[in-house]
Amino acid sequence: MFGLHYNLERSAIGLVVFIVIVASIGGLIEIAPLFSIDETVEEAPDMRVYTPLEVAGRNIYIREGCYACHSQMIRTLRDEVERYGPYSLAVESSYDHPMLWGSKRTGPDLARVGNKYSDDWQTLHLNNPRDVVPESKMPAYRWLLRNSLRTDDLGEHLTALRTVGVPYSDEQIVNASLDAFGQANPDTPEGDGVFERYGDATNVRTFDGVPERLTEMDALVAYLQILGNLTNAAHQPNQAEAE
Ligand code: HEC
Repeated sequence: MFGLHYNLERSAIGLVVFIVIVASIGGLIEIAPLFSIDETVEEAPDMRVYTPLEVAGRNIYIREGCYACHSQMIRTLRDEVERYGPYSLAVESSYDHPMLWGSKRTGPDLARVGNKYSDDWQTLHLNNPRDVVPESKMPAYRWLLRNSLRTDDLGEHLTALRTVGVPYSDEQIVNASLDAFGQANPDTPEGDGVFERYGDATNVRTFDGVPERLTEMDALVAYLQILGNLTNAAHQPNQAEAE
């Protein structure tokens, strides 16, 4: 062993060759899984993109640092699956730029929190968690109900997402600001437009309980309610044993 090292150091070329071999082992381990990425990422033909209102909510989630206490990734461990639902699939994060898997759980995982609570509950909870969960340690986000949502730049956000591979159509980008308004205002022509562009399964309703105004609360609740519901892939039969 030490004799090999001694001899190697005396041969410059031998040492270089050996270093290249050893260093490339780490590289191969990192690169090899990418060769099978097509088989690793499941197919999900029913997967839809985030609506402009949900994108705005996601941006607020990032701005407020929710990811510092909440993960969005259910691991393949029995206790996680029993608590949170089917484990997360790679395809479910394909439109997440940046991904928000997180690495810390001060609060619970949120990957499947969509539809777990009512919009009212989410609004009350974000406004002051202690109103619904007396022992909660989560901070209160009171300004979300006060702040009007900025929508004029949403088209640009969708364009940026399209640059990194999210398949937004020109029509979706042009109508982004209108669709954000429409998703929180059912029974309006703008609301109908959201169904046309994002499918019938989209949630169109007043999320924060105040119909006239579009607030940051509307956006964040719309985003939370779609978590885990962009595709049904994780609930397919081959995942049945995990449920
Ligand atoms: C300091 C850590 C912390 C931060 C930051 C934080 N949370 Fe929480 N969150 C918690 C804790 C602890 C709980 C569990 C108690 C409760 O329900 O309030 C929780 C619970 C939740 C729940 C209920 C989950 C469930 O399945 O019951 C949701 C939804 C939620 N948080 C969303 C958010 C959002 C959105 C943000 C950012 C605006 C955020 N949290 C920021 C700690 C945090």
